[in-house]
Parts: sequence; structure tokens; C-alpha cells
Amino acid sequence: MIDTARIQCPVLRQRVMSAEQAAELIPNGATVGMSGFTGAGYPKAIPQALAKRIEGINNEGGRFRINVWTGASTAPELDGALAEVDGIEMRLPFQTDPICRTRINDGRMDYVDYHLSEVSQYAWSGFLGKMDLAIIEVAGIREDGSLIPSSSIGNNKTWIEQADKIILEVNSKQNIKLEGMHDVYYGTALPPNRKPIQLTKPEDRIGEMYLRCPPEKVIAVVETAAADRNTPFKSPDDVSRKIADHILEFFEREIEAGRLPEELLPIQSGVGNIPNAVLEGLDAGRHKGLTAFTEVIQDGMLKMLKSGTLSVASSTAFSLSPDGIREFDENIDIYRDKIILRQQDISNHPELIRRLGIIAMNGLLEADIYGNVNSTHLMGTRMMNGIGGSGDFARNGYLSIFVTPSVAKNGAISAIVPMVSHVDHTEHDVKIIVTEQGLADLRGLSPRQRAKTIIENCAHPDYRDELMSYFERACSSGRGMHTPHLLNEALSWHQRYEETGSMKAD
Ligand code: COA
Repeated sequence: MIDTARIQCPVLRQRVMSAEQAAELIPNGATVGMSGFTGAGYPKAIPQALAKRIEGINNEGGRFRINVWTGASTAPELDGALAEVDGIEMRLPFQTDPICRTRINDGRMDYVDYHLSEVSQYAWSGFLGKMDLAIIEVAGIREDGSLIPSSSIGNNKTWIEQADKIILEVNSKQNIKLEGMHDVYYGTALPPNRKPIQLTKPEDRIGEMYLRCPPEKVIAVVETAAADRNTPFKSPDDVSRKIADHILEFFEREIEAGRLPEELLPIQSGVGNIPNAVLEGLDAGRHKGLTAFTEVIQDGMLKMLKSGTLSVASSTAFSLSPDGIREFDENIDIYRDKIILRQQDISNHPELIRRLGIIAMNGLLEADIYGNVNSTHLMGTRMMNGIGGSGDFARNGYLSIFVTPSVAKNGAISAIVPMVSHVDHTEHDVKIIVTEQGLADLRGLSPRQRAKTIIENCAHPDYRDELMSYFERACSSGRGMHTPHLLNEALSWHQRYEETGSMKAD
């Protein structure tokens, strides 16, 4: 039975079919732009039906693969299902799926890890190649064929514009009251025709509530009723709380010094345990009327919006736990006016991030003593997730804060190393590093001053002496004194871990 309330366009009602029938319309080798950002708003039925089809073809000795472009990470029903059957040739721009990760690191799947703000420009400029098909989850289709976006916007605007053909998944599990929370901006253009983006506050609306979509491009509509990925929320642990405390104390010092206003500056926060602890700490504190200009709204932000700590949150997606979803659905009328969802080339736009003066807080895998940060590559070679939006915010934010426990794998890995094994964020972009041990404020410090500050404030005591010894020996080697290194030793910690399972010296 077609849900006529959700599919109001008569022409598109005639294109309703099953996920299996829609999956048949996807050709081998196609480049497919899918909706989805941090496990929200991704197509749920067609990728699984396609995976089944691919499995059948592969079992008969065939080889069927597609290129998958999304907003960011999706979920087991998309990335997991397609990676499981070896159905992805090329994946971009971000993923967090364990099966994808294995395929990427086995060399069986190509992966391009882009700054999330830049993907739509790359697609528009044409150098990524042609997009054959877009598969977009929506909350509903309006009479004129325009679309009510669902729990993320991501790159949907661009995919709809770029793809030759479009397939829509209309998900009745998505709250229909999402209608009106989106702000889709149609003023972007390629150089030399770009105009300034007239957004000066996180709450500004600069676009339209709906995605434009020419009905003649839509070849199939599939009805679904399935929830988003919804990762369970973990209460902050002791380490996260300590990190949060260091950041909150730092904010107080900055306010006292007149470098931050009482209501801070708009916050961007990555997902995970530590950012949630910071948000919880802010919520328990004295600040009211803060704002967020970020790419994901997690549980912590919902709580802050409800309590009034946060007055508004601008984002491109939700990333909520099952409890968070319940809270959002039950109280959507409270949240509707306080949340704006934008496409990711706006939520992560460097011009806007710089103008608004964002306080950016993101995670890292390892930082070196000079402040270079590796967020993506385990031991320099194995992809974890990708850079995501962290580069957009770290490079352009007013304050770029990176957070991490000082050790990983029960202490076998130090998050502070002599030299990072891969660089995502350079010493020029990283302003503050925080571990449970303390906070290193790197602003205004030379590389050698930074090294001492990071080792003393952030390194775990088990590794502090060895790091200091490395630094002092590098300084006394008499080679370059701007950024002293012992090149034959700089990555020996990583090598030691690969050989013995621990970075600790005997
Ligand atoms: N070397 C090897 N493994 C490491 C490591 C290191 N230096 N540091 C952490 N790890 C391992 C942990 O042990 C853990 O492994 P497990 O899953 O097997 O237990 C895993 O990496 C994740 O570590 P955790 O401390 O739980 O990190 P997190 O969930 O806070 O994520 C990043 C940290 C860096 C992976 C994550 O923030 C990320 O992907 N960042 C890039 C994208 C981004 O910042 N997006 C912007 C906003 S959404």
C-alpha cells in the first residue's frame, strides 16, 4: 500500500516498486551517489537488495561492483552489506564500517578520503567523473516532486543535481515533523562565479526547506520503514571526564583573559565519548545560550538544547543513540525551532567556519611532540575511518582543539609520539591538545617550546621520560634546531609496536 501522505506527487506514486526491482536498475560499474551522514538518512533497503543481487552474480562467476559516494559514514545496511559481497570498487569520502575498513586495508577496495566540505565542489567540477545514479532517502515527496529531506542532508543536493537518474527511498520511520528543519542553499557556484555566503550566525536561514528534484529523473521510488543506525550512547568514562574538565577550565581561563566571550563561540564537536563528556560538562556548567555550528548533532547536544545551555544547533546530520532518537521524536516540537540541517558544503564551509570563529573539538589517533596530528592511519598505513570534517574545522576554526586518551590498547600505545606516522592536521593548524593528563596550549609557541609543553602536559607518565630523552638527544644532535629530530629513530616507536605489540622500551 502506497503511503499517499508521504508520496504526494502523483507521477512519482506511479514509480513505486520493491527494493529488489529498484536494485535491478543499477548497472554494473555505476557510480552511485547515496545519501547518508554519520549513520543518519542513508538508504536502507536498496543497498541490501543490491548486495543480494551482487552475491548471486558473483556466485555464478561474475563480477559486479559499483562506486559508492556518500555524505559521510553510513551503516551495516549500506557499507557493510555491499563491502561484505565485495561490491564496492571505489568508496568516498568517509566511512567507519568495519568490513569496509578490512577491505580497504586488504587492498580490495579503493578509498578516497576527502575533506567533507570539498566533495560537492569536486563532483561539480567534474574531475571525479560522472555520477550515473543517486539513491536518496527522504522523509516524504511533495506534490511538485520536491523532497522533504530526512535525518541528514550531506551531499544530497549535489547528488540529485549531478546524477543522470534518481531513486528515492521514502522512509516512514523518519519523523515527518522533520519537515521545515532543513535549509538547502542553492547559491553555490564554481569559481569564478562564486558569491559570498550570507550567513553570519549559526541560526541564519539562507536557503529552502526542500530539495529540488526533477520528477523526470526519478526512475524508482521505494517505500521503507526502518530506523537509522543509532549507536548506543556510552556514559563518559573517567578519562573522558578528565579531558572534559581540562577543556572547561581552559574555556574559563580564556574568558577571564578576554579571549572568549561568556557565551563562548559556536561549537563544533566530533562524535564519541570524549566530545559527549565535554558537552555534558558544559551543560552542567554556568553557560547559557551557547550555539553550535557543527556537522553532527549527538545526544549531548540534544540535552543542551533542551536545558537552554545551547540556543541553536546548525548541522548536516544527527547521530543519536536509540534513547536520543526517542527523546528527539517525543519532543520534536521543542527541537524543531532550535535545529537547522544544512548540506555539508555549507555546514563545513571554510568561509563560514572562519567567519563564525568556531571552537573545533576533534579526536586524534596520535600527535607528535611538535603538534602534528594523525587522525586516520593506524601505525601509518592502516586506514581507520578518514579525515571527515575534522580538517575543515581544524584548519579554519578560531580554536582548534584535539582530544585523546594519552594511551591506547591498555597502555601499549602512546598517543604522543616522537613523529606521527601519518599527518592529517599539521602543526600549523593544531592549537590545543588535550589528554586526561592535561592540556597543551600551543598558540604562540615555537616547535621546541611546543615539544616541552606537549610532553609535560599530555604524555602518559609511562612514556614521558623516553619522549623527553628523545627530544633532548635530538636537540643535542646539532642538526636542525628549529624542529629537532633523529630521523633514524623518529618512527622506531611504531616499529617496536609492530614487532612486539607495545611501544614501551624493554
Ligand atoms: N594507534 C593504534 N590504534 C589506536 C591509536 C593509535 N595511536 N589510538 C587509538 N587506537 C585505537 C583504539 O585502541 C581503538 O581501538 P578498538 O576500537 O579496537 O578499541 C580505536 O583506535 C578507536 O580509539 P578511541 O580512543 O575509541 O577513539 P575514538 O572513538 O574517540 O576515535 C578517531 C578517534 C581519531 C578514530 C576518530 O575521532 C576519527 O575517526 N577522527 C577522524 C574523523 C573526524 O574527526 N571527524 C570529525 C567530526 S565527526
